[in-house]
Amino acid sequence: MPSKQLRYHLTTFGCQMNEHDSERMSGMLEALGYSESPDRESADLILFNTCSIRESADSRFLAHLGQARRLKREHPDRIVGVGGCWAQSLKHEVFARFPFVDVAFGPGQVHKLAEFLTSESLSAQGYFEFDGFTGRLPARRTRPFQAWLQISVGCNCACSYCIVPSTRGREVSRPPHELVEEVRAMARDGVREVTLLGQNVNSYGRDLPATAIARGERAAERVTFAGLLAQIDAIEGIERIRYTSPHPKDMREDVIRAHRDLESLCEHIHLPLQSGCSRILKAMRRTYDRSRYMDRVALIREQVPDVALTTDIIVGFPGETEEDFSQTLEVVEEVGYDGAFTFIYSPRRGTEAARIDDGLVPHEVKVERMERLVELVQRRARERAQRFVGRTLEVLAEGPSRTDAEKLRGRTRHNKVVNFSGLAAPGELAQVEISAATSQTLAGEETLLARAA
Ligand code: SAH
Ligand code: SF4
Ligand code: F3S
Repeated sequence: MPSKQLRYHLTTFGCQMNEHDSERMSGMLEALGYSESPDRESADLILFNTCSIRESADSRFLAHLGQARRLKREHPDRIVGVGGCWAQSLKHEVFARFPFVDVAFGPGQVHKLAEFLTSESLSAQGYFEFDGFTGRLPARRTRPFQAWLQISVGCNCACSYCIVPSTRGREVSRPPHELVEEVRAMARDGVREVTLLGQNVNSYGRDLPATAIARGERAAERVTFAGLLAQIDAIEGIERIRYTSPHPKDMREDVIRAHRDLESLCEHIHLPLQSGCSRILKAMRRTYDRSRYMDRVALIREQVPDVALTTDIIVGFPGETEEDFSQTLEVVEEVGYDGAFTFIYSPRRGTEAARIDDGLVPHEVKVERMERLVELVQRRARERAQRFVGRTLEVLAEGPSRTDAEKLRGRTRHNKVVNFSGLAAPGELAQVEISAATSQTLAGEETLLARAA
């Protein structure tokens, strides 16, 4: 045990998977006796959980790392640690290029951070195997009523633009009984909303053995993603289940029906499109085409008409012509997403697409396409959001509104942010009458009569 109270400062970049991993890093550090420092200057351990999905993620992180180098120079006994996808993707170079880094580890080696901190050795250490589930470490949750559940790690897809398969390794699922136990423990702790995490959640379980001996019984060990959703839905106390992300190629009817049938499964599906053009989808190695994607959307809308659909889209993939891009616009118009994350294509080290040198889209063209896309996404989202005006929706209150201190903020089951006046405490479910809607947020008032009833 450290003799003086040691303090850590952790900065998280990237996706929900990293947010999850960071909660586990904090939990592990606090179990080791560290406490959180409000700023880097007063931290004994400066830690980063990094992302490398686009070049912009790299450069943002490098600016922060520069500050850590200065702080390390001032106090050389300070430890600088770098975890996550950027660290993994530069495992061969990290210590040569950034000699002030003391410890670097990939997403599969978060537990090794504890080993490093408790060892006698002060020499730089790197840990880059894929052999652990961060989800098995203790968590320190940002919000006591919401939790991440890591159902699998890694990705077996080969999307030609994507660095993730190389930073997170092959897909490995956690056994269902372990996940159910974890969610039961969360429910006992007061968690009401759980978000299942994986790079491709609906291929969950395919790598598990068909049966296994668990706690003395012969248990069915391989369940499908839909089966897992049903097991979690049955747990008392969990009011909302979300998941991210499904892959359109694996979006089966059983999962879609689960949205209709399971009470706690929310009316929101994030279904990454990437491109509306079949030729580009092929070059991206997404393994579905435009019509197969639209067929999934039709099935979803048929089974769960009110569902909110969101997506990810990349513009300016090598070879994307104006005609190809206009097909993306057509799909966005036709589907009418409730929201979309839009990205300018960024070549990533080691990926197949980064080697393409034909038909590269000039930066100005990418930017111009992006602007047109964002405008359309917002118009459709604004139009879609009008269906909520006048309805009373269940909102999970999160705390004060970010825009107006008099108001509260929360989310609907459709994953829409609502700013509302009312009395709900963080973690409470409020009934909110929606009075206005923009592309991004809803506004409304809590119906206190319903609360009292
Ligand atoms: N596993 C998730 C995606 C993780 S990355 C899934 O498949 O849904 C999140 C998003 O970043 C991707 O959906 C994609 O739209 C975007 N992205 C990934 N690599 C990119 C790149 N090289 N350039 C631009 N955007 C990229
Ligand atoms: Fe990347 Fe594709 Fe895997 Fe998503 S499914 S993490 S985009 S390789
Ligand atoms: Fe997530 Fe970034 Fe890694 S998006 S999986 S943290 S590269």
